[in-house]
Amino acid sequence: MKTPRDADAGGANEPERRTPSRREGQSAENRAGSETGAPRFMGRIRPATENDLPGTLEIYNEAVLNTTATYDYEPRTLEHRRAWFEDHAKHNYPVFVAEDQAGRVVGWSALNPYHDRMGYRFTTENSVYVAADRRGQGIGTLLMPPLIDAARERKFRAILAAIDAENPVSIRLHAAFGFVQVGHFKQVGFKFGRWLDVVYMELLLPSS
Ligand SMILES: CC(C)(COP(=O)(O)OP(=O)(O)OC[C@H]1O[C@@H](n2cnc3c(N)ncnc32)[C@H](O)[C@@H]1OP(=O)(O)O)[C@@H](O)C(=O)NCCC(=O)NCCS
Repeated sequence: MKTPRDADAGGANEPERRTPSRREGQSAENRAGSETGAPRFMGRIRPATENDLPGTLEIYNEAVLNTTATYDYEPRTLEHRRAWFEDHAKHNYPVFVAEDQAGRVVGWSALNPYHDRMGYRFTTENSVYVAADRRGQGIGTLLMPPLIDAARERKFRAILAAIDAENPVSIRLHAAFGFVQVGHFKQVGFKFGRWLDVVYMELLLPSS
């Protein structure tokens, strides 16, 4: 049976290759925090383990309570986080963390299922979150490349990022890695008493 991947492989259906972003070919380490004047992140990015779950949950729940980066209203529990992590491991969806020199988890990123219908299986949706007190230090920038590499290794065709339209930092972060805006959904979210727009950005990976 032909998969969508077979169908596009190098054929006439191959969409135009995206323009390489300015991120490509640069060392992530050399870029971190370099353009905001914030202190440079000196830790490391690595695959998450179960021990990281409380740290990643704390970061997520801060965003739930104080931002429109996520449209969740209620903080998640550790049990929910553990089930989420186990499900990711079971289905080979990667989770990465940024760990600072003191051993604190200060950011995380993940690939997630986009949709469970069969025809969407080559598409994934990403998440990236940095601790509130460590934003603007280049950590988000460092959390992106392993995610994109992991998507490539898993032969995903598209990475989607659903971003609140009033989140210029996330839009800028994704654009720096070659994501392009493919949609703007008006007033599909509601949080903190107002309607919110969502921008969809997409990175197409080579089909092979
Ligand atoms: C969005 C987020 C992941 C970005 O991570 P970060 O570590 O703060 O971002 P970085 O320091 O790597 O910077 C990324 C880009 O945004 C710019 N930036 C960072 N903070 C900024 C700020 N406060 N104002 C303006 N630009 C800013 C950086 O200069 C950089 O752009 P450049 O490379 O063109 O200079 C992080 O801010 C965050 O967790 N925010 C809350 C949760 C969220 O929005 N998650 C994304 C959901 S889609």
